[in-house]
Amino acid sequence: MNDLTNDRKLQHIGIITADEQSDRRMHYFERIRFKHRALPQVDFKRIDTRTTIMGKTLSFPLLISSMTGGDHKLLRRINRNLALAAEKTGVAMGVGSQRVMFTQPKAQASFRLRGHAPSALLFANLGAVQLNTGFGIDHARRAIEILEADALIFHLNPLQEAVQPEGDTDFSALAEKIGGVAEELDRPVILKEVGAGFSEKDAELAIQAGIRYIDVAGSGGTSWSRIEHHRHAENSEKAIGLTFQDWGLPTPVSLQLLQPYLGRLTLFASGGIRSGIDMAKALILGASLCGMASPFLRPAMESAEAVVQAIERIQLEFQTTLFLLGIAETAQLHLNNALLVE
Ligand SMILES: Cc1cc2nc3c(=O)[nH]c(=O)nc-3n(C[C@H](O)[C@H](O)[C@H](O)COP(=O)(O)O)c2cc1C
Repeated sequence: MNDLTNDRKLQHIGIITADEQSDRRMHYFERIRFKHRALPQVDFKRIDTRTTIMGKTLSFPLLISSMTGGDHKLLRRINRNLALAAEKTGVAMGVGSQRVMFTQPKAQASFRLRGHAPSALLFANLGAVQLNTGFGIDHARRAIEILEADALIFHLNPLQEAVQPEGDTDFSALAEKIGGVAEELDRPVILKEVGAGFSEKDAELAIQAGIRYIDVAGSGGTSWSRIEHHRHAENSEKAIGLTFQDWGLPTPVSLQLLQPYLGRLTLFASGGIRSGIDMAKALILGASLCGMASPFLRPAMESAEAVVQAIERIQLEFQTTLFLLGIAETAQLHLNNALLVE
């Protein structure tokens, strides 16, 4: 999420809306099968889809995943529409990288969302690699303060940085630096990939650094490698993004790898989650919250109401899934392998 300028954020949005294949639609979740119940023994209308994360109760475990922000009308509108919709539907929301507001102070307005979402669970966002380019605790505090955020996401995007024309690729000793900042903050830090997943070693480093939340953000959905490919000059020998467009751990696989750490970590899932059915599968695999990004981009460019409609549809899918599994409340999904066909 190298976003020194608004131009780059606008470019990303342009590429994603023009190139349908930037969403890889790998359908990894479809390989997991549910045991349908012919006798669910629950009343659909009484199913409780709520969940509590960081002390806030959500209507169901959905996160509008980090996307954007910056000094441009379109970016302000997208964030405003997402925030209004998150508040109305009772789901969580993350903003895109706030790095831009440190070079272009006018971009701050796009991140002042608390007025639109007074009770929503809101996550600030910065690139962790920036801790190796001069960012530190003051930037982290400021990012939280502008958004009045409940937590700070540090995103990890080594693939994206490696395949883009102007990437920051010094990821040395980053876990220690993340730990140093996390220790000084009075809000939780969430570590998040952007579409390539986490493996066991990453989880161990995160735990050692005092981190308690990981969003695996695995592969299967939006491919940043593919998006960055389009930003290279045609025929550039450095344009290797297509070769790596499907690199990474699929979201369900990354969740499975991190299951042994569940006592010490709370896991969020994102990357290619496209329905309430996928959400239920991610929760069974150990996630507590499910993020979706690109499915909300077009609705957010349109109106808050369009985002609300998209969320309500996903909630209906989620509730229908619980009904067909004979599950009365969200918590009963957690690590409940008996719901799956072996
Ligand atoms: C337009 C757009 C911009 C994004 N910008 C950021 C960002 O600034 N910071 C971040 O952590 N992730 C960012 N992401 C990544 C998403 O939060 C998410 O991890 C990834 O897209 C996988 O989810 P998806 O398959 O549902 O899109 C962005 C995604 C999209 C679609």
